[in-house]
Amino acid sequence: MLIRYKKSYKKVAMGLLSFMPNEKNLQRLQSTMNLYETAQDHQLFLWREDEGLVGLVGVLFVNEHLMQIQHITLNPSHRGQELGKKMIMNLKELNPDILFIPHDNTKEFCGKYDINNSFNTRCSDTSA
Ligand SMILES: CC(C)(COP(=O)(O)OP(=O)(O)OC[C@H]1O[C@@H](n2cnc3c(N)ncnc32)[C@H](O)[C@@H]1OP(=O)(O)O)[C@@H](O)C(=O)NCCC(=O)NCCS
Repeated sequence: MLIRYKKSYKKVAMGLLSFMPNEKNLQRLQSTMNLYETAQDHQLFLWREDEGLVGLVGVLFVNEHLMQIQHITLNPSHRGQELGKKMIMNLKELNPDILFIPHDNTKEFCGKYDINNSFNTRCSDTSA
């Protein structure tokens, strides 16, 4: 289940963000985290499994019609189980009328699919 970020999740969120290839530098990571905590157009979501918070999606609300997926990351022990797709699908369910676009940081993963359509189909197939 996707949940909205709150301050008490900061440590785990920074740990997850640090798995992004471009967030390895501590200063950069802190500045990204600061952006998500302060900028109104940025929002972090965390993915909760029974064992805890294992994934993160960071988005930019470009405008009321457009959302850019800036960060997507999972704990290594939870990769390869289609949770990446499920996170996007859940985000889409929460924002059904918004068009998703990838960021340079996420285009490799997002680019595998049509994130506005194929994810829904593929994910609802697997969660049935
Ligand atoms: C990106 C990430 C969240 C994907 O999560 P996941 O649950 O392992 O992926 P899923 O199981 O939902 O997706 C599976 C498909 O995506 C592909 N995929 C996974 N990571 C990918 C990546 N970084 N780039 C391109 N494709 C990727 C898999 O090969 C698989 O393809 P297949 O269905 O053709 O076999 C996860 O690999 C991760 O946390 N990576 C480190 C952070 C990162 O690099 N994020 C930016 C990605 S561009």
